[in-house]
Amino acid sequence: MANPKQRPVFLDLLRIRQPATAVLSIGHRLSGIVMVLAIPLLVYLFDRSLSSASDYADTLALLHSLPVRIALVLLIWLFAHHFFAGIRYLLIDVDVGADIHQARASARLVFAAGVAVLLIAAVILL
Ligand code: HEM
Repeated sequence: MANPKQRPVFLDLLRIRQPATAVLSIGHRLSGIVMVLAIPLLVYLFDRSLSSASDYADTLALLHSLPVRIALVLLIWLFAHHFFAGIRYLLIDVDVGADIHQARASARLVFAAGVAVLLIAAVILL
């Protein structure tokens, strides 16, 4: 459809500078998707750890390896980000912090809280 006002249209989403609220929303969706994708892997590891004593020891050794510990730290970060962002969305749904200035401030707070959990998890697990 022709643009009746003849305004320039710029829709390269990778080049538009997104506000913190938009980045938070994208992060919330991505973290949710990655956590869902991680479920089969976590269930498999849990199942394997219960199948025999030697499988338990193998699973434990795998969980102690550096790449898996790094993956767990990232997963904890994704959960924390998703959790804090989710609480924020639920509050906004009931009109708490829905004003644009409060929404921007709370988006930054959610990022900071997620990074704080990431750092704590990294200190404990790495
Ligand atoms: C207790 C912690 C959690 C809270 C408070 C929470 C909160 C929310 C909320 C409020 C939404 C809707 C966001 C919207 O309005 O667009 C949502 C979406 C979603 N959540 Fe969670 N969630 C939690 C845990 C999880 C976990 C553990 C997973 C995955 C295993 C998950 C996966 C998803 C997915 C895939 C979506 C859809 C994302 C989208 O379409 O944008 N959530 N969550």
